This record gives sequence, C-alpha cells and structure tokens, in this order.
Amino acid sequence: MSRSTMVLIFTSLLVFISLTSAEMTVPRRPLGFVYKDGQPTASVRLASFLDLTCPDSLEAFKILLQVADSFSDRSVHLRLYLFPLPYHTNSHLLSKAARFLDDFTKVSPTNATVFDWIQLVFSSMRYLSTRATSNSTEVQVVDYVTSLAQSLFPVSAEQFKQGIYNASIDRMTRLEWKYGATRGVYATPMFTINDVFVNGDAWNVSEWTARVDNLLQDSVHSGCGARLGASTVVNLLNIFGDPFGAFCAFSHIHLAVFITALQCLFSYMSRN
Ligand SMILES: *[C@@H]1O[C@H](CO)[C@@H](O)[C@H](O)[C@H]1NC(C)=O
Ligand SMILES: *[C@@H]1O[C@H](CO)[C@@H](O)[C@H](O)[C@H]1NC(C)=O
Ligand SMILES: *[C@@H]1O[C@H](CO)[C@@H](O)[C@H](O)[C@H]1NC(C)=O
Ligand SMILES: *[C@@H]1O[C@H](CO)[C@@H](O)[C@H](O)[C@H]1NC(C)=O
Repeated sequence: MSRSTMVLIFTSLLVFISLTSAEMTVPRRPLGFVYKDGQPTASVRLASFLDLTCPDSLEAFKILLQVADSFSDRSVHLRLYLFPLPYHTNSHLLSKAARFLDDFTKVSPTNATVFDWIQLVFSSMRYLSTRATSNSTEVQVVDYVTSLAQSLFPVSAEQFKQGIYNASIDRMTRLEWKYGATRGVYATPMFTINDVFVNGDAWNVSEWTARVDNLLQDSVHSGCGARLGASTVVNLLNIFGDPFGAFCAFSHIHLAVFITALQCLFSYMSRN
C-alpha cells in the first residue's frame, strides 16, 4: 500500500469518527437557567456562560441581573449557562446542585430560586475554590454544599445528595457544558446578545443598558414593517412623510414589506 493511500485511509477514518460522534444528545428541555422566567416574546436575549467558582463570573452575574431588572417591564430575556471549568474542582458539583435545585423549586413550595442559589454559591466562593478545598475530601465538600442548600431550600440532606448524584442531573449539567464547548466558549464569563458573542467583560450596567436600549429602539422602529403590512395608502403616505420609516423598510431586508410598499406605490400612482 502506498504511503498516500495509507494517509487517505487514515484521514477518511478520522473524518468518519468525527462525523459519527458529531451529534450531541438533544436535551428534553432547553439548557441554561432563565431569569424570572423571561419573556417569551423578548426581542433582546442576553446570555452568559458562567463558572460558579470564578470571581469574574460573580461580577458578570451581578451586572446582568441589574440589567435584566432595569428592563423588567420590557422585552429582555436573560439566560445563564453554567460552564464549569476543568481547573475549578467544585464547579461541576455546584452546577449539578443548581440543576437539581431548579427542578426542586418547581415541585416544592419555596420562595427561593436557582438564582438565589447561584448568588449564595458566589458569596461562599472563598470556601469553595479549588485552593480552599485542597485538603478537603469530596464528602466534606458535599456536606458543606448540602448545608448551604438547606439554608435556602426546604430540602433534606438525603434528597439533596441524591439529586447531585442523580445520573440525569449529571447528564443535563454535562450537556450544558458541551453546548458551551460547541459555541467555542473557552473561559468565563462569556456573553451573547441575541445569540452573537460580545465582549461584555468590561461593560458596566450603564454600558449594557445602553446597548440593550439601542436594540430595543431598533425593534420599535422595525414596527414600521407592520404599519406597511396593512398596505393602505395612508401607510404609504406615512413613509413619504416619515423618512425614518422608509429607511427602516429598506434597511431591514424584509421582502414582504418591500413588496407591499411597491404595491402601495403602484396603487397610489394609478389613482393619481
Ligand atoms: C413565601 O413568601 C411569602 C411572603 O413573604 C410567605 O408568606 C410564605 O410563607 C413563603 N413561602 C415559603 C414556602 O417560604
Ligand atoms: C492544607 O494542608 C497543608 C499542610 O498541612 C497546609 O499547609 C495548608 O495551609 C492547608 N490548606 C488549606 C487551604 O487548609
Ligand atoms: C433523577 O432526576 C430525574 C429528573 O429530575 C428524575 O426524574 C429521576 O427520578 C431521578 N432519579 C433518581 C434515581 O432519583
Ligand atoms: C461605565 O463605563 C463608562 C465607560 O468606561 C464610564 O464612562 C461610566 O462612567 C461608567 N458608569 C458607571 C455608572 O460606572
């Protein structure tokens, strides 16, 4: 067998392996945790990939919650994905706890949410970092994490431990990490706005708010598409009277609106 044939066979084999293992398990429900249940029709969707024992993630968490709260009456949706970094020993465990407690709040009467859990874990970070627990056994860490959970949720120690060692909770937590990996996440925190990565690391609340405001303005203006859609002459006159409306119709490449506008234009001209 020639050398090039061997290389060809080897490469094909690699391609075959990578193709056959390319598909991730599809989760039964969307990944991540949505803040205050979100707004189904939100026009601006913020998301962040966080690690629960990463100090920068704590900063991002505080800022994003303030941003989401400041748009509470408007269409902003915040989703957090947990992305436990391999060199943060306890992060996967804490992420599993988040997944379990989120499920727990849906079936048990409690006022605390998974966001309160994330907040509590962040504020206990000095006891949970890799360095802080370097002399601790996993049993000791789990006991400590259990006591944290019990300070917020009416969960028994046994129930909580079953939850964090539950195979389906573990699978879901791994999938969330894998999802981050498929999006190219390599550090925490990382951010997306409407699914596109942004360099939000250094943005304060006002900078975030300004960016979201801009997008909300845009989506308000794209409402002129709906005005056009009514395809009345009155709407057409609107466009001539409102240069921004006309700009909008062309800038949002929206064929239907454009065609409606043309139809309106022809009917307007044929009447005159
Ligand atoms: C939730 O909060 C309300 C109002 O503060 C309180 O009356 C209720 O007992 C709380 N429920 C639980 C399960 O803690
Ligand atoms: C771990 O044990 C070593 C040796 O006893 C000690 O020097 C170190 O301070 C301990 N670390 C922590 C975080 O307790
Ligand atoms: C594990 O968790 C899933 C989903 O929360 C639940 O349906 C299942 O009963 C749990 N399994 C065990 C063994 O507790
Ligand atoms: C936010 O950051 C901008 C730019 O760095 C700065 O001008 C502004 O004063 C900051 N706002 C607050 C509230 O810190």
